[in-house]
Amino acid sequence: MEKLIVKTENLNFSYSSSKKDIENLNLRVPKASIYGFLGPNGAGKTTTIRLLLGLLRNHSGKVRLFGKSFTNNRINILNKVGALIENPSLYGHLTAIENLIIASNYRRNISKNRITETLDIVKLTHSKNKKVKEFSLGMKQRLGLAIALLGNPELLILDEPTNGLDPKGIIEIRQLIKELNSQYGTTVFISSHLLSEIERTCTHVGIIKNGKMLFQNKVEVLKRTQSENLELEIETNNNNHSMRIVKKLALSSTIIENNLISVIIKQKAMIPKLIDELRKNQIDIYQIKIKNNLEELFLSLTENNKI
Ligand SMILES: Nc1ncnc2c1ncn2[C@@H]1O[C@H](COP(=O)(O)OP(=O)(O)OP(=O)(O)O)[C@@H](O)[C@H]1O
Ligand SMILES: [Mg+2]
Repeated sequence: MEKLIVKTENLNFSYSSSKKDIENLNLRVPKASIYGFLGPNGAGKTTTIRLLLGLLRNHSGKVRLFGKSFTNNRINILNKVGALIENPSLYGHLTAIENLIIASNYRRNISKNRITETLDIVKLTHSKNKKVKEFSLGMKQRLGLAIALLGNPELLILDEPTNGLDPKGIIEIRQLIKELNSQYGTTVFISSHLLSEIERTCTHVGIIKNGKMLFQNKVEVLKRTQSENLELEIETNNNNHSMRIVKKLALSSTIIENNLISVIIKQKAMIPKLIDELRKNQIDIYQIKIKNNLEELFLSLTENNKI
């Protein structure tokens, strides 16, 4: 069986008694995966990350990192984890190298070599003596990543590391994550509110909304699910005629309202066939909308619909 680096069992957490902020969350992060934790603003991504790191009290359910719970082992476990939550806290009046030296004092056995190495990994060697207040946002983010990498972590947890970066900065971070994963076998847990980002970078995905996990699987399965069993809403000038044509294609349809029918298809590839057939029969098509369960969610997770 696949080894899980992060596993939670029925994790529940509330900041206040009025609502549940994390509800029955069962995370499964396989070893050496890049796991994308996807969800809109306020979904519970940062809260989950805080729970994984043992930074919030009074949760119910279990959190296991490397198969172990924090009881008795917290320091040992956290020594194998590097984390970057929201924006890194850096000293602007100090240089990159000085920031790394300070951060290394909080950890066990970090050698001078390792500081140089991490600067190299995040490609900041040429700016090592520059004051951080002169850094761009992307550079600050990479320095934060270097701090997270100091302890040579087996698990890297990154909370929206590309937030606020320009396209070039986003690509750099994406490449870095992939390199760390392929060269050192680092398991990466990365949160994002952008589906496209997760699809490009990750091997696995968990989608969270209102504190609940809605989907968790390999990214390839997510891609397949998006194009399977789709419900289409089609607006035409003739419902009854359209339904007869749909029936001939062995598809089922129902009338929703005037000039609007719903058709169930198995694959996206069916859409052009259906359009061709309707047009051949002189049916006018005014609009086609894909309506499946996850669709609304996916829509809220694309670039054009930042919420
Ligand atoms: N310190 C806090 N006290 C009270 N409620 C909080 C606190 N932090 C977060 N919340 C609430 O918990 C829920 C989850 O928030 P969280 O910050 O985990 O979401 P998120 O997915 O990280 O969102 P974002 O994409 O904006 O970073 C939200 O309803 C939020 O308002
Ligand atoms: Mg957050």
